[in-house]
Amino acid sequence: MGRGIAQIAAVGGFPVVIWDANGKVAEEAKTFIADMLNRAAEKGRMAKDAAAAAIARITVAGDLQGFAPSTIIIEAIVERLDIKQKLFADLEAIVAETTILATNTSSLSVTAIAAGCQRPERVAGYHFFNPVPLMKVVEVIDAVRTAPWVSPRLVALAHAMGHKPVKAQDTPGFLVNHAGRAYNTEAFRMLGEGIADPCVIDDILREAVGFRMGPFELMDLTGLDVSHAVMESVYTQFYDEPKYRPSALAAARVSAKLFGRKTGEGFYRYEKGEQIRPAAMPAPDARPQAVWLNLAAENVRRLVSDLASRAGVAVENGDKPSSDAIAVLTPLGGDATTTAVERGLDATRTVAIDPLFGLEKRRTLMTTSVTSPAARDAMHGLLASDGVAVSVIHDSPGFVAQRVVAMIVNIASDIAQQRIATSEDIEAAVKLGLGYPKGPLEFGDALGAPTVLQILEAMHSFYGDPRYRPSPWLKRRAKLGVSLMTAEA
Ligand SMILES: NC(=O)c1ccc[n+]([C@@H]2O[C@H](COP(=O)([O-])OP(=O)(O)OC[C@H]3O[C@@H](n4cnc5c(N)ncnc54)[C@H](O)[C@@H]3O)[C@@H](O)[C@H]2O)c1
Repeated sequence: MGRGIAQIAAVGGFPVVIWDANGKVAEEAKTFIADMLNRAAEKGRMAKDAAAAAIARITVAGDLQGFAPSTIIIEAIVERLDIKQKLFADLEAIVAETTILATNTSSLSVTAIAAGCQRPERVAGYHFFNPVPLMKVVEVIDAVRTAPWVSPRLVALAHAMGHKPVKAQDTPGFLVNHAGRAYNTEAFRMLGEGIADPCVIDDILREAVGFRMGPFELMDLTGLDVSHAVMESVYTQFYDEPKYRPSALAAARVSAKLFGRKTGEGFYRYEKGEQIRPAAMPAPDARPQAVWLNLAAENVRRLVSDLASRAGVAVENGDKPSSDAIAVLTPLGGDATTTAVERGLDATRTVAIDPLFGLEKRRTLMTTSVTSPAARDAMHGLLASDGVAVSVIHDSPGFVAQRVVAMIVNIASDIAQQRIATSEDIEAAVKLGLGYPKGPLEFGDALGAPTVLQILEAMHSFYGDPRYRPSPWLKRRAKLGVSLMTAEA
């Protein structure tokens, strides 16, 4: 991490001093940065003079005394509170009173690190993401005692280094790692309930919603040992808040060393670095005799009517389905079984289609607990008859995409409500730090805050789990009919 930060600071025009307890590491870092910049110059991505000047700005200190003239020190050493506290205490004895001590910690409390200092008001968090030169966002974190003059200087430095600064309060996971909690934990919830296999959940979130990677692919890339440790750390630091609850399944897989790419096996197997995916099954040839669309959302009704008419399947819109028809439901936050029973339908001949995500790219077909295999296969065949992929899942309140996106919106709403960060910074941080296709509040606005609220209330009522209770921020904006970006005056 340290070398990436040194590189962007040097390229940004600042004289940089680097030091590591292991002297060899600092020398290697300088050589590494020089290689990176020389290669960038050879490829024409950077002027040769600029690369040479940046390299010349970096010096390796022989000991901590080398930091005596520094105005800002960015610490990126081992993630241990006692070691970071000791380093800052040692630095305080060397540097000027106005020197800022910034920590790149990702999981420790900045306030706790500062507590070991004579002048905790000069300590702040400055949290980068790996690889630093490519991940152009940095969290600027005020600890409880940080003085007001500190963060503007770190914000200005970030701009000068070409990074987007986002401000966050010193809370577990800060902004990006907090906002990212829903994606993995909700994926585990669905896996734990047997709703779908990892590759099915990944396909839906990638293709129907537009995430760059599915949650299981992402955890395989990060390493489940790392991802699970973050899940546990944020959860325990928030005193067992159910919204961040990790999964016992993850703990077991960590014990089994199914870390992902780095161990060759995780949710997928890897051979020579290539992910081995289960072969996709062709869609069934079967078609229903008739489909009943009276209760389906307008967009699903249009799609299925169109497919049915092309396939010679009868379409029914009467009060009740005939004995030949498969009933199609499109619940928001509800599961197929409960919705079918509440509507007085025969659950063996009922299926649900997610009306919110993926009708053009990848459709989600959900069964009730007792949908017959014949009804399921016939609907699957019809829904895939124009060549669009279909994912078939077991019953789930909020299908796959609805519940994951609703939880992402809900957690971002809590971050805004708890004044951890502004709406604008939440959006920027999540897009740059997590690579989501939209900021979480923009996701919510695109669906409509009342729709997200409806999904969460239905899930909350079904599970009775406080995990799904809607954020006050979301509830109020849904009731007011205003954007989720709306701040309080
Ligand atoms: N790796 C990431 O993706 C990432 C992302 C964001 C933040 N961080 C944070 O950055 C910090 C460093 O992470 P990393 O992955 O680069 O770790 P790392 O283990 O690769 O590097 C840590 C370096 O610190 C040195 N070190 C240990 N004790 C020291 C001391 N007392 N004084 C000076 N140097 C000392 C070690 O020799 C080592 O070179 C951690 O706080 C981590 O949480 C890491």
